[in-house]
Amino acid sequence: MKTVTVSASKTYDIVIGSGVLKNVGQSIQALGRAEKVCIVSDSTVYPLYGEALRSDLEKAGFEVEVFVFPAGEASKIGETFLALLNFLAEKKLTRSDLIVALGGGVVGDLAGFAAASFLRGIRFVQVPTTLLAAVDSSVGGKTAIDLPAGKNLAGAFCQPSLVLCDTDTLLSLPGDIFRDGCAEVIKYGVLYDPKLFSHLEEKGLSFDREAVITRCVELKRDVVAQDEFDTGLRMKLNLGHTIGHGVEAMSCFSLSHGKAVAIGIAMIARATAKFGMLSGPDCRRILAVLDAFGLPTHTEYEADALYAYTLSDKKRAGSTVKLIVPRTIGQCDILPVPVEELKNWIQAGL
Ligand code: NAD
Ligand code: GLY
Repeated sequence: MKTVTVSASKTYDIVIGSGVLKNVGQSIQALGRAEKVCIVSDSTVYPLYGEALRSDLEKAGFEVEVFVFPAGEASKIGETFLALLNFLAEKKLTRSDLIVALGGGVVGDLAGFAAASFLRGIRFVQVPTTLLAAVDSSVGGKTAIDLPAGKNLAGAFCQPSLVLCDTDTLLSLPGDIFRDGCAEVIKYGVLYDPKLFSHLEEKGLSFDREAVITRCVELKRDVVAQDEFDTGLRMKLNLGHTIGHGVEAMSCFSLSHGKAVAIGIAMIARATAKFGMLSGPDCRRILAVLDAFGLPTHTEYEADALYAYTLSDKKRAGSTVKLIVPRTIGQCDILPVPVEELKNWIQAGL
């Protein structure tokens, strides 16, 4: 079992390993003050892990409430958010009480935003059960819901009080959803860590889960410590996301986030290589590792349409788009590109 400590506006531990969920009650007790805990989960995850979590929390002396919503991105919306706030009010949670988010990124983002908003902020604990949530969304305090105008358009920066990542929960993940998280893991290798990248090349899908999740979380911890509010360095975590979000939106979200990010990483690698800023061999290694993990590296969408969707991304600043471009395996730059040039990059990446 490993513990990584994040030092941002709040200091908190991320505990990673097999069997972490067996001690949830004690771990949450150690946070102090709370009498009530509200478990927030989805209709797939709660039946798998919810009752064991509930009984462990009750054994530790907490009064437990449970809020479960239908699984999937379609639930990460204002209606579910308001229903959760009303539920917390009805159950009379106070500012010293806690939310426990049990699930993937959808549960974590929604429950985190509710925690940030209810009574102007109560504490929450992330219990990620997807690989994506373990390596990315449960860490760093970005919480959000989707609006009809786009994904993650309403939210708050709000750090959790604790993250408990039980690697055993990943065993029940469908392979396809596990692979979505692998796109984010590959992203960390390309961004910061040649050794992690080589481990992924060597081991493929049978990589060492505890070690790899811990490494990704350490890398994210370092970024969040330097740029919690996403004004500079943290933008690098969007490698593959600028074009990826365009592909994801064009598919009307029928393509998963992980697969869209994989396509985005592949396209930016091809374009950067074509413009002479990434070597051919490094570009081929990036494409090969995505392929080895069963992730897509091409899209059938055309450059014009993709350009229009990519431009609607909220990370655009005025007339410039900041692209994250790989320079070697383990090092990427933030490259401001005039909006008019973005289409050339997309074309070069196809
Ligand atoms: P998800 O939460 O929808 O989970 C995917 C599916 O897997 C769901 O159907 C869920 O019920 C199921 N599932 C979860 N854990 C399971 C388990 N252990 N066994 C079996 N099934 C399980 O999706 P996700 O990929 O985890 O997260 C995607 C979301 O995360 C998006 O909304 C994205 O915007 C958000 N996100 C947020 C951040 C951030 O920093 N806050 C970062 C990246 C992504
Ligand atoms: N997932 C990107 C970030 O946390 O900044």
